Amino acid sequence: MEALQLRDISKSFGRNQVLFSIDFDLQAGEIHGIMGENGAGKSTLMNIIYGNLKSDGGEIRVDGNPVTINEVSDAQKLGICFVEQEIALCQDATVAENIFMARINQGKGFNMKKLAEEARQILEPLCGGSIDPYEIVEKLPISNQQVVEIAKAISNNCRILILDEPTSSLSGEEADALHRVIQDLKKRGIGIIYISHRMSDIFGQCDRVSVLRDGTMVSTRPIAEATVQQLVNDMAGREVDILYPPKAEDLQRTEENVVLDVQGLTDAEGRFSDVNFKLYKGEILGFAGLLGAGRSEIMQGLTGLRPMKGGKVIFHGRDIMGKSTSAIFQDGLVMLPEDRKKQGLFLDMDIEMNTSAAYLQQITRGGMIQRGKEHRQAEEMSKSMNVRCTGIHQIVRSLSGGNQQKVLLAKVLAKRPDVVIMDEPTRGVDVGAKAEIHRLLRQLASEGVSVIMVSSELNEVMGMSDRVVMLDSSGCLVGDVTGDDINSDHIMYYISDAYKYQEKNDEVTEHE
Ligand SMILES: Nc1ncnc2c1ncn2[C@@H]1O[C@H](COP(=O)(O)OP(=O)(O)OP(=O)(O)O)[C@@H](O)[C@H]1O
Ligand SMILES: [Mg+2]
Repeated sequence: MEALQLRDISKSFGRNQVLFSIDFDLQAGEIHGIMGENGAGKSTLMNIIYGNLKSDGGEIRVDGNPVTINEVSDAQKLGICFVEQEIALCQDATVAENIFMARINQGKGFNMKKLAEEARQILEPLCGGSIDPYEIVEKLPISNQQVVEIAKAISNNCRILILDEPTSSLSGEEADALHRVIQDLKKRGIGIIYISHRMSDIFGQCDRVSVLRDGTMVSTRPIAEATVQQLVNDMAGREVDILYPPKAEDLQRTEENVVLDVQGLTDAEGRFSDVNFKLYKGEILGFAGLLGAGRSEIMQGLTGLRPMKGGKVIFHGRDIMGKSTSAIFQDGLVMLPEDRKKQGLFLDMDIEMNTSAAYLQQITRGGMIQRGKEHRQAEEMSKSMNVRCTGIHQIVRSLSGGNQQKVLLAKVLAKRPDVVIMDEPTRGVDVGAKAEIHRLLRQLASEGVSVIMVSSELNEVMGMSDRVVMLDSSGCLVGDVTGDDINSDHIMYYISDAYKYQEKNDEVTEHE
């Protein structure tokens, strides 16, 4: 049975038409994936179904009956639930209050203890009780906030569930938990729309997959009949090379080429201790580790964002430990922040302002910003990143999620750093743009920039890195690999702690 049918849906923002006569079907008990490049119109279409936006025409049917969705409450009454792409929780309220916000807003009075208990029940299958319903949302890491968003959506009586890139800020384990929950919802006959840029999500979860390109629905296939290359080509409208760029050929890992030398770095809160590694000129160095191994925390420690108990960070021959993040940034060591909305972008300013913010000093003469230079730099950057926009004066908030990510990259790279630390550089970025970002990072490396790459996708780390440093689950650095040793069997053996048990077994056999 068709739970949801869209017929002839179109949408324009001003003169910019972003959806063209969309037809789409979702069956009850089906997980239907939607893929498409950044800016293709996926979120816009979902916002129309959920009543956040009004379409310019067309028809929506639920269970075969035409319906009118003028506002969110209309959609909710029809059992439509939506986990939006960007986290939109009330930051200073508790987890339980957020999950039951709709109920609280009805003003009928509520019992906090009861709410907390109900929240606990909804959260349990999603995170195994690791999120406290009384916790203030602001204090949670983004991945947990995303889990709360999902709990909030499914707390309502849900018949059609829309997930807009739900796993982009989740760890592997959290994504697995989410997938178990949605497979369960599917069994109960709920229709699920699943938007993702991750092929593994699409092939692992979905029954069918549709591709949206430039506002047009270009294909729908049963998953068994789809291939990665086909989907990529459908998204781009041309043959796209999805291979990783070739690795560096003549890296000189000599003493004089050491750009960054980390010695005995130890976290004040004990998340990791005695971290030692060197980074060489022109090298892309990947960090592999499971969730919680402390990869992001190490990067925050290096850049002054997190208090350290001890250690040295030698950059340009000087110890930068204890320097402020902005001083380190001015020295040429920059980091792409994990949370683009909070730490990265001025959302209400345009692309130009955002890209120039990082290097204002360089284009300022006698207290005046050289506007021509600013403009040219921004044009260049947004072109090289292929930011999909109406022009560099578009306000960043109105860009699609993946394009915001590209602006953030442009901003960080505009200053021509010596070392860039990329924490999840391609989060929420479509496959084509991802390949572009990868090419760009390799290009920078070949020009002598050194790159540290942290990603929750092991494939990305392996595909991009000249050398991979491995962290075990206790944040202990267990060695590094190059060349053919960069393969998932080898790396998983160390980062999953399997090597510890192996060593124990060896000891036992020796004693026998
Ligand atoms: N409120 C708005 N005002 C003006 N233009 C908008 C608005 N919302 C979206 N757009 C434009 O509509 C187009 C489609 O954006 P949308 O967010 O639907 O893309 P998407 O497919 O979800 O991309 P992503 O994968 O990056 O999330 C983009 O060109 C975007 O700039
Ligand atoms: Mg989107």
